[in-house]
Amino acid sequence: MLNIALPKGRLGERVYAMFEKAGFECPSIKENNRKLIFENPECGVRYFWVKPSDVAIYVERGAADIGVAGKDILLEYEPDIYELLDLKTGICRMAVAAPKGFRDDPRRTLKVATKFTNIAQNYYASLGREIDMIHLNGSIEIAPILGLSDVIVDIVETGTTLRENDLEVIETVVPISARLIANRASYKFKNEQIIRVAEGIAAQLQTEEQQP
Ligand code: PRP
Repeated sequence: MLNIALPKGRLGERVYAMFEKAGFECPSIKENNRKLIFENPECGVRYFWVKPSDVAIYVERGAADIGVAGKDILLEYEPDIYELLDLKTGICRMAVAAPKGFRDDPRRTLKVATKFTNIAQNYYASLGREIDMIHLNGSIEIAPILGLSDVIVDIVETGTTLRENDLEVIETVVPISARLIANRASYKFKNEQIIRVAEGIAAQLQTEEQQP
């Protein structure tokens, strides 16, 4: 049985459809209930819904053989896993944003509020910019409005959250999308099954790319 951790929510549903199309269907997953684990012994798969930011932990520790995690989580926590495929969905970007008209004064330490401290740390280290890191857990957009920080480093998808809070992107840190990941030991011992899933999904992505 191949254990597959999927991110709970809209992205997870879209991603499950890719597994289904690749021939690893599990009809019970579509039943409207609060169950978190679903299996289809005929296809040799067991799916479970976990919090999107937890998928990489399940995969790294082998509770799941494979899973789908955002590149943001992989860059932030640097789990010891294999990244097999860019699923070209869940597309957004990690960006630096600030109140409209903000001008960075390089002589001052920059106050940065974010949930993604590792990504922000690496980004500013690469620029040689001294920062004061403020770790927050959510509603990051409020920080510069209240003067807690100068800028934020956060995920931007449509840009609506920034716009509605009078903030704007000043730099893109890195593009983000969902990735198919695998546990290192599972990749060795369940290689054939994992490759079948990865190739099935890769073939779909290719067909989609070729369609106008
Ligand atoms: C993310 C991010 C922004 C928002 C950006 O939050 O932190 O707040 O999405 O999306 P937009 O550009 O389309 O407005 P998410 O909804 O993932 O929840 P979170 O606050 O738990 O991070």
